[in-house]
Amino acid sequence: MSPAPGETVFVSAAAGGVGVLAGQLARLAGARVIGASSTRNMPRLEALGIEPVPYGPGLEARLRAMTRDGLDAVIDTFGGGYVELALALGVAPERINTITDYAAVQWYGVQARGNGDALSPGVWSELQTLIAAGRRVVPIEAEYPLEDIARAYTDVATRHGFGKRVARIRAPDLRPPRSAGQQLRRPVRSPMGTMW
Ligand SMILES: NC(=O)c1ccc[n+]([C@@H]2O[C@H](COP(=O)([O-])OP(=O)(O)OC[C@H]3O[C@@H](n4cnc5c(N)ncnc54)[C@H](OP(=O)(O)O)[C@@H]3O)[C@@H](O)[C@H]2O)c1
Repeated sequence: MSPAPGETVFVSAAAGGVGVLAGQLARLAGARVIGASSTRNMPRLEALGIEPVPYGPGLEARLRAMTRDGLDAVIDTFGGGYVELALALGVAPERINTITDYAAVQWYGVQARGNGDALSPGVWSELQTLIAAGRRVVPIEAEYPLEDIARAYTDVATRHGFGKRVARIRAPDLRPPRSAGQQLRRPVRSPMGTMW
C-alpha cells in the first residue's frame, strides 16, 4: 500500500489481529488512519493514534463526513463488501489491499498482499525491533493453555476482540533426569560452613 505522509488510510477491521498492526504501521508511515470497530474497541484504537469509526449501516456516509478530500488507500482485513465500499468512495484499485476477499481481487483487480509478501527475515526483524522498542504494540485479547485450544478457535471464530489470541505451549523440560544419588544429596553442616 505504501502509505505516504499526509495520506488518509482506512482499515476495515482495525481492532483485529492483523488490522491493529496494519493501522499502526500506516501511522508510522505518517498517514492519517481511520479504522472501523465496535464501540468497545474505540478508546483502544484512539490510544494508538487511529481514528475509530463504527462499522455497520451508514459507514459510507460516516467516512465521507470524516474525509473531505476522500480516502487515499484502504486495507481490508474483514471482507464482505469493504472492497466495494472503497471503490464507491473513489479509491483506486491499486491502492486497495484485501487479505481476505479473493473474489474482489478477481473482479476488481485490487491488491492481495498478505503473509506471503511479508515472510522475510528483514520484515520480521523490522517488526521485532519496533515492538521491542515499544514503538508499536501487539495487543493480546486473550491467552489460552494448549489444553483449551478448542475454546481459542471458538473465540477466534466470533470475529470480535482486540488484537491477537495466543495459545501458550508449555516448554518441555529437557534437562537430563537426576540420578538417585543427586536427588539424595543434602547440605552438610561443618565447622567450615555448609557444604554441598
Ligand atoms: N492473506 C493473509 O496473508 C492473511 C493473514 C492473516 C489473516 N488473514 C485473514 O484476515 C482476516 C483478519 O484476521 P484477524 O485475525 O485480523 O481478525 P478477524 O478475527 O477476522 O477480525 C477480528 C476483528 O474484526 C472486527 N469486526 C467484526 N465485525 C466487523 C465488521 N462488520 N466490520 C469491520 N470489522 C469488524 C472486530 O472488531 P470488534 O471486536 O470491535 O467488533 C475484531 O477486532 C481473517 O479472515 C484471516 O483469515 C489473511
